This record gives sequence, C-alpha cells and structure tokens, in this order.
Amino acid sequence: MEEKIVAMPRIGDKAPEFTAVTTQGPINFPKDYSGKWVILFSHPADFTPVCTSEFMTFATMEKQFEEANCKLVGLSVDGLFSHIAWLRTIKEKIQYKGMKDVEVKFPLIEDITMEVAKKYGMMQPGESATKAVRAVFFIDPKGIIRAIIYYPLSLGRNFDELYRALIAMQTADAFNVAMPADWRPGDEVIVPPAGSCGVAKERMDGKDKDVTCHDWFFCTKKIDKDTVLKTVLKK
Ligand code: BEZ
Repeated sequence: MEEKIVAMPRIGDKAPEFTAVTTQGPINFPKDYSGKWVILFSHPADFTPVCTSEFMTFATMEKQFEEANCKLVGLSVDGLFSHIAWLRTIKEKIQYKGMKDVEVKFPLIEDITMEVAKKYGMMQPGESATKAVRAVFFIDPKGIIRAIIYYPLSLGRNFDELYRALIAMQTADAFNVAMPADWRPGDEVIVPPAGSCGVAKERMDGKDKDVTCHDWFFCTKKIDKDTVLKTVLKK
C-alpha cells in the first residue's frame, strides 16, 4: 500500500488538531489549551536514559513554565501502560543530578499508531523508523506554531534554552520588538526596522534618546529585566 505523505507543519501554521489518550486523561489538542502557550514535544521511547534525564528536568521546571502561561505536553509512540510504568519508575527509583522523587504531572500522549507523530513530522525515518525524534513545537495562545526545534535521538535537549526561547517570544510579542543573539531578560532588544528614509535619518541623527543605532537598519533599546518579568510573568 502506498504511504500517505503528510506535509510537516511549519512556523506560522495552525497547530494540527488531534484527540489523544494521555497519562492525565483524554485531550483535545490544541482546543483544550486555547489562551495558553503550549510546548508539545516528542521523545523516542519510555525507559531510555536520555529521555529519563529530559523528563526529570522538564518536570522539575514545570512550575516555571506554568508561571509563563505555558503548558507542557509530551508524546512518544509507546502505549499508555508503558508511560504509566515509566513515570512511576522515575518517581520511585531514579535519582539524577540532585533530582529525586520527581513526579511528571504534565500529560504524556500515547501514540502507538504514530498518527500524531506523523502529523507533526516527529517521525524522521532516516534517524529511526520506529521512534520519534526529539521534536519541540512552541504553540501560542491562538494555536499558531511559533517555533520548532529538532534534536536527534542521541542528544538531550537544553531546557534552559526552551525557557529562554519562550520568554523571548512572549517579550517580542508584548513589546513589538525582536531579540538579538543570546538575548536574556534585561538585555537590549531590537526595534523594528526604519520604514522610511526619514525615520532612518532621524534614528542616525539620534532623535530618539532611548534608541541606539549601530547603523540605520540595526537599532536597539533597553527594556529592563523587571519590566520584562512584570509583563510576561506578571511578577
Ligand atoms: C535515550 O533516550 O536514551 C535514547 C532513546 C532512543 C535512542 C537512543 C537513546
């Protein structure tokens, strides 16, 4: 039988819809998460070491993501009972890098049919025909995919970077700015490009005292850390 080719979702697309069974009960995605950011991520297999280190790290940071209005949803092509057994083992037996007694409270989707994994391009046969790669989809409160990151089976993700990317996108939206390389709250942000020769000249003439221009097309301004945190984390 001919394999149906499904186009991978891209940045700017609506998050593909699905219903699924999870370790926290059934979900209707992304409808159940309307008004919230979601990180939908896949992992290759339950009871594997890299995935275990990732789940312990993500579960430990869940409150931090929650405070940024972001829910976590995991997926692998294992079944529900395997998921339950693995999460129980993590809680009861695994100590790693100072983390212990870690309870994974976010939903983990069972996807034995690979239906969801295929819909989201998480199956990459060159890497593995039977396991999902480590994909991360950032989906905004309107259900739009805003960023996608992929890692191979052999490399665990950097969860500080996932958090940094989330806060950076939320800040970019809130202040209509863009974020330079390695941006962190408190660093300068990039103001939208000059839309006319007049604005380009004004910027280079230093008319706006809050804006620093390295050249007419590359101008930055300060947004202090407290302002970012108050706006994004409501702190
Ligand atoms: C792991 O999570 O350790 C793993 C999973 C699949 C392939 C290789 C490593």
